[in-house]
Amino acid sequence: MHLHPSDTLPRHHKETLLGQKGCVLWFCGLSGSGKSTIANALEHVLHEKGRFAVRLDGDNLRGGLNSNLGFSDNDRLENIRRTAELAKVLAANGVIVLCSLITPRGAFRDLARGILGKDFHEFYVKANYATCEARDPKGLYAKAAAGEIKDFTGLDSAFEEPQYPDLVLDTEHASARDSVFEILEYLRDKGITT
Ligand code: ADX
Repeated sequence: MHLHPSDTLPRHHKETLLGQKGCVLWFCGLSGSGKSTIANALEHVLHEKGRFAVRLDGDNLRGGLNSNLGFSDNDRLENIRRTAELAKVLAANGVIVLCSLITPRGAFRDLARGILGKDFHEFYVKANYATCEARDPKGLYAKAAAGEIKDFTGLDSAFEEPQYPDLVLDTEHASARDSVFEILEYLRDKGITT
């Protein structure tokens, strides 16, 4: 509390101010699996509880910070690297960061984990290809089936299932609301929120 202005303000001072621990909840899964829906619903609930969260969504970031990147493995890796670095800054300032990116390969998730260390929490938003294809909220699965999209995840670009995720959110069998409750319990268990 008696810090000189030239001292770096310690992370825990901001965490105390916000009443939470900084962390990154990394939602991975196929397009249409429900990553953004869950992150969105969670953000609302956390906000109502007076907790401060920021969403970093692959689709949105690809319109700005990552607008020069496509869907080759190299570009996806860079997409994930930049997002993880941004999330790192936010988490170090006490923010609960909600990242929703397909993150289709173990190596990509390892990169994010390496950047974020203990702040990284891997949540697998699980729904199979057929389910996501039936939902097709953006009409991309129909386009991919018609051969109009190259390197489409799950079709001609692989999705490797996470081996040891911190949480599996099975959206074929559970609602977004159920998933939010599961995450809130997880956050309490880990001491991220009270
Ligand atoms: S990631 O693989 O690099 O993690 P990210 O989550 O940023 O992907 O972007 C995925 C979103 O881009 C999808 O939800 C979808 O809306 C759109 N998209 C466009 N082309 C593709 C493609 N070839 N494969 C997957 N998603 C695509």
